[in-house]
Amino acid sequence: MQLVTEDNITALAQERWATAKDPRTAQLMTALVRHLHDFAREVRLTEAEWMAAVRWLTATGQISDPKREEFILASDVLGLSMLVVQMNHRFSPGATPATVLGPFHIDGSPELGFGGDMSDDVTGTPLYVTGTVRSLDGSPVPGAVLDVWQADAEGAYEAQLDVDEARLRAKYRAREDGAYCVRTIAPKGYSIPMDGPVGELIGQTAISHFRPAHVHFLLTAEGHEPLITHLFEEGAEYLDSDVVFGTKQELLVRFEHREPGTAPDGTTCDVPWIEARYDFVLQPCAQH
Ligand code: BEZ
Ligand code: FE
Repeated sequence: MQLVTEDNITALAQERWATAKDPRTAQLMTALVRHLHDFAREVRLTEAEWMAAVRWLTATGQISDPKREEFILASDVLGLSMLVVQMNHRFSPGATPATVLGPFHIDGSPELGFGGDMSDDVTGTPLYVTGTVRSLDGSPVPGAVLDVWQADAEGAYEAQLDVDEARLRAKYRAREDGAYCVRTIAPKGYSIPMDGPVGELIGQTAISHFRPAHVHFLLTAEGHEPLITHLFEEGAEYLDSDVVFGTKQELLVRFEHREPGTAPDGTTCDVPWIEARYDFVLQPCAQH
Protein backbone atom coordinates (compact mmCIF):
# COMPACT_ATOMS: atom_id res chain seq x y z
CA MET A 1 0.00 0.00 0.00
CA GLN A 2 1.33 3.43 -0.91
CA LEU A 3 0.38 6.07 1.65
CA VAL A 4 -0.19 9.63 0.53
CA THR A 5 2.39 12.30 1.39
CA GLU A 6 2.84 15.89 0.33
CA ASP A 7 5.72 14.70 -1.85
CA ASN A 8 4.01 11.82 -3.67
CA ILE A 9 0.44 13.13 -4.07
CA THR A 10 1.09 14.70 -7.49
CA ALA A 11 2.51 11.48 -8.93
CA LEU A 12 -0.35 9.45 -7.42
CA ALA A 13 -3.02 11.77 -8.83
CA GLN A 14 -1.35 11.74 -12.25
CA GLU A 15 -1.21 7.93 -12.21
CA ARG A 16 -4.94 7.75 -11.55
CA TRP A 17 -5.84 10.21 -14.30
CA ALA A 18 -3.52 8.45 -16.74
CA THR A 19 -6.07 5.60 -16.74
CA ALA A 20 -8.56 7.64 -18.79
CA LYS A 21 -9.74 5.41 -21.67
CA ASP A 22 -9.16 8.10 -24.28
CA PRO A 23 -5.40 8.77 -24.59
CA ARG A 24 -5.91 12.50 -25.25
CA THR A 25 -8.09 12.80 -22.12
CA ALA A 26 -5.32 11.04 -20.18
CA GLN A 27 -2.75 13.50 -21.55
CA LEU A 28 -4.94 16.55 -20.78
CA MET A 29 -5.85 15.44 -17.27
CA THR A 30 -2.36 14.38 -16.16
CA ALA A 31 -0.92 17.69 -17.40
CA LEU A 32 -3.74 19.60 -15.67
CA VAL A 33 -3.04 17.83 -12.36
CA ARG A 34 0.68 18.57 -12.67
CA HIS A 35 0.12 22.29 -13.41
CA LEU A 36 -2.54 22.70 -10.69
CA HIS A 37 -0.31 21.10 -8.09
CA ASP A 38 2.70 23.16 -9.21
CA PHE A 39 0.55 26.30 -8.95
CA ALA A 40 -0.63 25.44 -5.41
CA ARG A 41 2.96 24.74 -4.34
CA GLU A 42 4.39 27.86 -5.99
CA VAL A 43 1.94 30.25 -4.28
CA ARG A 44 1.57 28.08 -1.12
CA LEU A 45 -2.20 28.18 -1.57
CA THR A 46 -4.07 28.64 1.73
CA GLU A 47 -7.35 26.88 2.49
CA ALA A 48 -9.16 30.23 2.55
CA GLU A 49 -7.81 31.11 -0.90
CA TRP A 50 -8.72 27.69 -2.24
CA MET A 51 -12.29 28.08 -0.88
CA ALA A 52 -12.54 31.61 -2.36
CA ALA A 53 -11.59 30.15 -5.75
CA VAL A 54 -14.23 27.42 -5.40
CA ARG A 55 -16.86 30.02 -4.49
CA TRP A 56 -15.82 32.17 -7.49
CA LEU A 57 -16.14 29.19 -9.86
CA THR A 58 -19.54 28.34 -8.36
CA ALA A 59 -20.75 31.93 -8.85
CA THR A 60 -19.42 31.90 -12.42
CA GLY A 61 -21.49 28.79 -13.14
CA GLN A 62 -24.57 30.12 -11.38
CA ILE A 63 -24.70 33.37 -13.36
CA SER A 64 -24.20 31.53 -16.67
CA ASP A 65 -26.97 30.57 -19.06
CA PRO A 66 -27.20 30.25 -22.85
CA LYS A 67 -27.13 34.07 -23.14
CA ARG A 68 -24.63 34.79 -20.37
CA GLU A 69 -21.39 32.88 -20.93
CA GLU A 70 -19.39 33.92 -17.85
CA PHE A 71 -16.84 31.10 -18.25
CA ILE A 72 -16.08 32.23 -21.82
CA LEU A 73 -15.66 35.75 -20.46
CA ALA A 74 -13.28 34.45 -17.78
CA SER A 75 -11.25 32.62 -20.42
CA ASP A 76 -11.24 35.77 -22.58
CA VAL A 77 -9.92 38.14 -19.89
CA LEU A 78 -7.23 35.63 -18.86
CA GLY A 79 -5.93 35.65 -22.45
CA LEU A 80 -6.66 31.92 -22.77
CA SER A 81 -9.27 32.25 -25.53
CA MET A 82 -6.95 34.31 -27.71
CA LEU A 83 -4.02 31.94 -27.09
CA VAL A 84 -6.17 28.97 -28.18
CA VAL A 85 -7.34 30.91 -31.27
CA GLN A 86 -3.77 31.76 -32.25
CA MET A 87 -2.44 28.22 -31.79
CA ASN A 88 -5.28 26.71 -33.81
CA HIS A 89 -5.44 29.23 -36.67
CA ARG A 90 -1.87 29.68 -37.85
CA PHE A 91 -2.86 30.98 -41.27
CA SER A 92 -0.38 31.74 -44.06
CA PRO A 93 1.05 35.26 -44.26
CA GLY A 94 -1.44 37.40 -46.18
CA ALA A 95 -4.54 35.58 -44.88
CA THR A 96 -6.85 37.60 -42.62
CA PRO A 97 -6.07 36.60 -39.03
CA ALA A 98 -8.64 35.14 -36.64
CA THR A 99 -9.61 36.61 -33.30
CA VAL A 100 -11.95 35.72 -30.43
CA LEU A 101 -15.55 34.68 -31.07
CA GLY A 102 -16.77 36.28 -27.84
CA PRO A 103 -19.96 35.28 -26.04
CA PHE A 104 -22.52 37.16 -28.15
CA HIS A 105 -22.74 35.35 -31.50
CA ILE A 106 -26.26 34.09 -32.31
CA ASP A 107 -26.84 31.37 -34.93
CA GLY A 108 -29.37 31.71 -37.71
CA SER A 109 -29.12 35.39 -38.61
CA PRO A 110 -31.33 36.46 -41.53
CA GLU A 111 -29.64 36.80 -44.93
CA LEU A 112 -29.66 40.28 -46.50
CA GLY A 113 -28.78 41.34 -50.02
CA PHE A 114 -25.78 43.43 -51.11
CA GLY A 115 -25.87 46.61 -48.97
CA GLY A 116 -28.86 45.37 -46.92
CA ASP A 117 -29.25 47.29 -43.66
CA MET A 118 -28.70 45.14 -40.57
CA SER A 119 -29.27 48.10 -38.23
CA ASP A 120 -32.96 48.67 -39.11
CA ASP A 121 -33.92 51.59 -36.90
CA VAL A 122 -31.17 51.28 -34.27
CA THR A 123 -29.74 54.79 -34.00
CA GLY A 124 -26.19 55.54 -35.10
CA THR A 125 -24.10 56.90 -37.96
CA PRO A 126 -24.58 54.74 -41.08
CA LEU A 127 -21.53 52.56 -41.73
CA TYR A 128 -20.89 50.71 -44.97
CA VAL A 129 -18.30 47.94 -44.70
CA THR A 130 -17.34 46.94 -48.24
CA GLY A 131 -14.64 45.08 -50.11
CA THR A 132 -14.00 41.61 -51.43
CA VAL A 133 -13.59 38.10 -50.13
CA ARG A 134 -10.56 36.48 -51.77
CA SER A 135 -8.53 33.33 -51.48
CA LEU A 136 -4.84 33.38 -50.63
CA ASP A 137 -3.93 33.36 -54.36
CA GLY A 138 -6.01 36.52 -54.93
CA SER A 139 -8.94 34.83 -56.70
CA PRO A 140 -12.42 35.96 -55.60
CA VAL A 141 -14.50 33.62 -53.43
CA PRO A 142 -18.04 33.94 -54.81
CA GLY A 143 -20.77 32.75 -52.44
CA ALA A 144 -18.65 33.22 -49.30
CA VAL A 145 -21.04 33.83 -46.41
CA LEU A 146 -20.31 36.70 -44.03
CA ASP A 147 -22.15 36.34 -40.72
CA VAL A 148 -21.92 39.79 -39.09
CA TRP A 149 -22.86 41.01 -35.59
CA GLN A 150 -22.11 43.98 -33.35
CA ALA A 151 -23.17 45.95 -30.28
CA ASP A 152 -25.34 49.08 -30.34
CA ALA A 153 -24.22 52.56 -29.29
CA GLU A 154 -24.72 51.60 -25.62
CA GLY A 155 -22.49 48.57 -26.02
CA ALA A 156 -25.41 46.12 -25.84
CA TYR A 157 -25.62 42.99 -28.01
CA GLU A 158 -28.93 41.40 -28.91
CA ALA A 159 -28.01 38.46 -26.66
CA GLN A 160 -28.02 40.85 -23.69
CA LEU A 161 -31.46 42.30 -24.50
CA ASP A 162 -34.97 40.93 -24.44
CA VAL A 163 -35.88 41.30 -28.12
CA ASP A 164 -37.81 39.08 -30.50
CA GLU A 165 -36.23 40.00 -33.83
CA ALA A 166 -32.66 39.87 -35.11
CA ARG A 167 -30.94 43.08 -33.98
CA LEU A 168 -27.62 44.29 -35.42
CA ARG A 169 -26.82 40.96 -36.98
CA ALA A 170 -27.22 39.52 -40.49
CA LYS A 171 -25.65 37.29 -43.10
CA TYR A 172 -24.35 38.55 -46.45
CA ARG A 173 -23.08 36.62 -49.46
CA ALA A 174 -20.11 37.61 -51.62
CA ARG A 175 -21.01 38.21 -55.31
CA GLU A 176 -19.38 36.51 -58.33
CA ASP A 177 -16.48 39.00 -58.18
CA GLY A 178 -16.10 38.40 -54.42
CA ALA A 179 -17.60 41.81 -53.55
CA TYR A 180 -19.65 42.21 -50.39
CA CYS A 181 -21.39 45.23 -48.82
CA VAL A 182 -22.65 45.44 -45.23
CA ARG A 183 -24.82 48.36 -44.14
CA THR A 184 -24.83 48.91 -40.38
CA ILE A 185 -24.08 51.68 -37.86
CA ALA A 186 -20.67 52.77 -36.62
CA PRO A 187 -19.73 50.64 -33.58
CA LYS A 188 -18.48 52.18 -30.34
CA GLY A 189 -16.07 50.89 -27.71
CA TYR A 190 -17.86 49.19 -24.82
CA SER A 191 -17.35 47.55 -21.45
CA ILE A 192 -17.55 43.80 -21.00
CA PRO A 193 -20.27 42.78 -18.49
CA MET A 194 -18.96 43.89 -15.08
CA ASP A 195 -21.89 42.75 -12.92
CA GLY A 196 -20.67 39.17 -12.40
CA PRO A 197 -17.73 37.29 -10.88
CA VAL A 198 -15.39 38.24 -13.75
CA GLY A 199 -16.16 41.94 -13.29
CA GLU A 200 -15.78 41.59 -9.53
CA LEU A 201 -12.26 40.19 -10.02
CA ILE A 202 -11.29 42.76 -12.67
CA GLY A 203 -12.52 45.50 -10.32
CA GLN A 204 -9.73 44.51 -7.92
CA THR A 205 -7.09 45.36 -10.55
CA ALA A 206 -6.02 48.27 -12.74
CA ILE A 207 -7.18 46.37 -15.86
CA SER A 208 -9.27 48.40 -18.34
CA HIS A 209 -12.59 46.60 -18.84
CA PHE A 210 -13.24 48.04 -22.30
CA ARG A 211 -13.08 46.72 -25.84
CA PRO A 212 -12.26 49.00 -28.80
CA ALA A 213 -14.99 49.70 -31.41
CA HIS A 214 -15.39 46.67 -33.69
CA VAL A 215 -17.72 44.65 -35.89
CA HIS A 216 -17.67 40.82 -35.67
CA PHE A 217 -17.42 38.56 -38.75
CA LEU A 218 -17.66 34.80 -39.24
CA LEU A 219 -16.80 33.91 -42.83
CA THR A 220 -17.49 30.51 -44.34
CA ALA A 221 -16.75 29.38 -47.88
CA GLU A 222 -16.26 26.04 -49.57
CA GLY A 223 -12.66 24.89 -49.70
CA HIS A 224 -11.56 27.43 -47.09
CA GLU A 225 -11.02 27.44 -43.34
CA PRO A 226 -13.83 29.22 -41.48
CA LEU A 227 -12.64 32.63 -40.30
CA ILE A 228 -13.84 34.16 -37.03
CA THR A 229 -12.58 37.70 -36.79
CA HIS A 230 -13.40 41.38 -36.13
CA LEU A 231 -12.73 44.63 -37.94
CA PHE A 232 -11.59 47.41 -35.58
CA GLU A 233 -11.81 51.15 -36.22
CA GLU A 234 -8.29 52.43 -36.81
CA GLY A 235 -7.34 54.94 -34.11
CA ALA A 236 -10.18 53.87 -31.77
CA GLU A 237 -9.85 54.13 -28.01
CA TYR A 238 -8.73 50.97 -26.13
CA LEU A 239 -6.98 49.35 -29.13
CA ASP A 240 -3.84 48.80 -27.06
CA SER A 241 -5.67 47.70 -23.91
CA ASP A 242 -8.42 45.44 -25.28
CA VAL A 243 -9.56 43.52 -22.20
CA VAL A 244 -9.80 40.26 -24.19
CA PHE A 245 -6.49 40.65 -26.13
CA GLY A 246 -8.36 40.48 -29.47
CA THR A 247 -6.75 43.29 -31.48
CA LYS A 248 -4.36 42.76 -34.38
CA GLN A 249 -2.69 45.28 -36.68
CA GLU A 250 -4.08 43.51 -39.79
CA LEU A 251 -7.65 44.00 -38.53
CA LEU A 252 -7.54 47.80 -38.19
CA VAL A 253 -9.63 49.61 -40.82
CA ARG A 254 -9.82 53.31 -41.59
CA PHE A 255 -13.31 54.73 -41.06
CA GLU A 256 -13.66 57.36 -43.83
CA HIS A 257 -16.30 60.01 -43.18
CA ARG A 258 -18.45 60.77 -46.24
CA GLU A 259 -20.94 63.52 -47.04
CA PRO A 260 -24.55 62.63 -47.97
CA GLY A 261 -24.63 61.12 -51.46
CA THR A 262 -24.25 57.83 -53.27
CA ALA A 263 -23.44 54.91 -51.01
CA PRO A 264 -21.28 51.92 -52.07
CA ASP A 265 -24.36 49.87 -52.99
CA GLY A 266 -25.55 52.60 -55.39
CA THR A 267 -28.35 53.84 -53.14
CA THR A 268 -28.50 57.39 -51.81
CA CYS A 269 -27.59 58.09 -48.19
CA ASP A 270 -29.06 61.46 -47.24
CA VAL A 271 -27.09 61.86 -43.99
CA PRO A 272 -23.31 61.83 -43.41
CA TRP A 273 -22.02 58.25 -43.40
CA ILE A 274 -18.84 56.26 -42.90
CA GLU A 275 -17.10 53.91 -45.30
CA ALA A 276 -14.77 51.12 -44.15
CA ARG A 277 -13.08 49.21 -46.95
CA TYR A 278 -11.64 45.79 -46.19
CA ASP A 279 -10.63 42.82 -48.34
CA PHE A 280 -10.89 39.51 -46.48
CA VAL A 281 -8.36 36.84 -47.48
CA LEU A 282 -9.37 33.27 -46.62
CA GLN A 283 -7.00 30.39 -45.93
CA PRO A 284 -7.64 27.46 -48.29
CA CYS A 285 -8.23 24.11 -46.56
CA ALA A 286 -5.12 21.92 -46.42
CA GLN A 287 -6.27 19.55 -49.23
CA HIS A 288 -7.02 22.41 -51.70
C1 BEZ B 1 -17.22 40.71 -27.85
O1 BEZ B 1 -16.52 41.35 -28.57
O2 BEZ B 1 -18.39 40.60 -28.17
C2 BEZ B 1 -16.69 40.14 -26.59
C3 BEZ B 1 -15.61 39.31 -26.64
C4 BEZ B 1 -15.12 38.78 -25.47
C5 BEZ B 1 -15.71 39.08 -24.26
C6 BEZ B 1 -16.81 39.93 -24.22
C7 BEZ B 1 -17.30 40.47 -25.40
FE1 FE C 1 -17.89 42.52 -29.56
